[in-house]
Amino acid sequence: MKAPLDVKAIKAEFPILGQEVHGHPLVYLDNAASSQKPRIVLEALVRYYERDHANVHRGIHELSTRATQAYEGARARVARFIGAGAVEEVVFVRGTTEGINLVASAWGPSNLGEGDEILLTVLEHHSNIVPWQLLAQRTGARLKSLDIDDHGRLRLEQLGDLLSERTRLVGVTHVSNALGTVNPVAEIVAAAKRVGATVVVDGAQAAPHLPIDVQALGCDFYAFSGHKMCGPTGIGVLWGRSELLEEMAPYQGGGEMIEIVELERSTYKRAPQKFEAGTPNVADAVGLAVAIDFLEGLGLERIQAHEHDLVSYALERGAQIPGFRDLGPVGDDRAGVLSFELGDIHPHDVAQILDSRGIAVRAGHHCNQPLMQRLGLGATTRASFYLYNDRDDVDALCEGLRAALDFLSGG
Ligand code: ALA
Repeated sequence: MKAPLDVKAIKAEFPILGQEVHGHPLVYLDNAASSQKPRIVLEALVRYYERDHANVHRGIHELSTRATQAYEGARARVARFIGAGAVEEVVFVRGTTEGINLVASAWGPSNLGEGDEILLTVLEHHSNIVPWQLLAQRTGARLKSLDIDDHGRLRLEQLGDLLSERTRLVGVTHVSNALGTVNPVAEIVAAAKRVGATVVVDGAQAAPHLPIDVQALGCDFYAFSGHKMCGPTGIGVLWGRSELLEEMAPYQGGGEMIEIVELERSTYKRAPQKFEAGTPNVADAVGLAVAIDFLEGLGLERIQAHEHDLVSYALERGAQIPGFRDLGPVGDDRAGVLSFELGDIHPHDVAQILDSRGIAVRAGHHCNQPLMQRLGLGATTRASFYLYNDRDDVDALCEGLRAALDFLSGG
């Protein structure tokens, strides 16, 4: 058993967490939306801009060489982090949303046609639904969806009926941003592969919180965002199998993705450059690599165990609060996301009262409207934990919920 995280020491590394909000110490529980950044990531960004910045892959001068090395070094760091088979399988994008859109735009049209099917799940974030709707409208493909059970787990027994040789693509989130369910991705991939489908995994809520090995998962594409994992905003990753990336047409055209340009036609570089037209987000890629060093220095397994402990403690404490109803699964397949109802108090009111006590949570549909419809809810309140949260934060949350009950329901 590995040593638990030293949360006090970790928290001290995040300057933003030292502040007061509305006269209370900040309790930041909106990590599924975006995480905070440790000092070493902030310093890496400043250092890069102060010492090394220039455009990459172009200049024959010292700064361009340094910037190029930093950028390509960041790519190699990401490749190791996710167990990629080759560095060239890592495409830098703005975030998960752009990664999924890239697949839908560059892989989709040549692989899907009228009557083909795309299988999603009811746990998908809008960013793993809308790109496929756009693709379906372009190609005549049809969308299908895998349901959940009453505990928020995917109903894998439906796969047999939903998958067929018409299924060309399966899109699944590794961890639900709304319920915290950790989905059995390897099992879903295995079923998809039996019918020859390509699998895209939304890893936005998984890569920050648990060890990822894309080859062990067996999927074809895996997308995630830097800003949810202690890295900067505006940088993310699309991992794709080399053979698929090489077959795919470019997503955007411009400088740096070409070999030869003539007026009427061009030839393109191989992946990943083929998908990185224009000046890339060098500084934030460098920041992401430092964030990965930070997370791996602590250990993803320890981070996962820590968050699991927090959510279990929150469930225990929450069960003592009148009207508290958690919506996610209880078990090892639960990440540090706590989505709940509090009697009939509107989640926005709950969130506002928590905010007045310095506690940041998200309230709403969490970009999961189909899931909310499935649950028969308009919105939930969501607290989401990360490596700098501790049981005191859970206590503050629960006291805040009791205060909301007292204030809003008179009792
Ligand atoms: N996907 C982010 C969330 O769940 C924005 O809040």
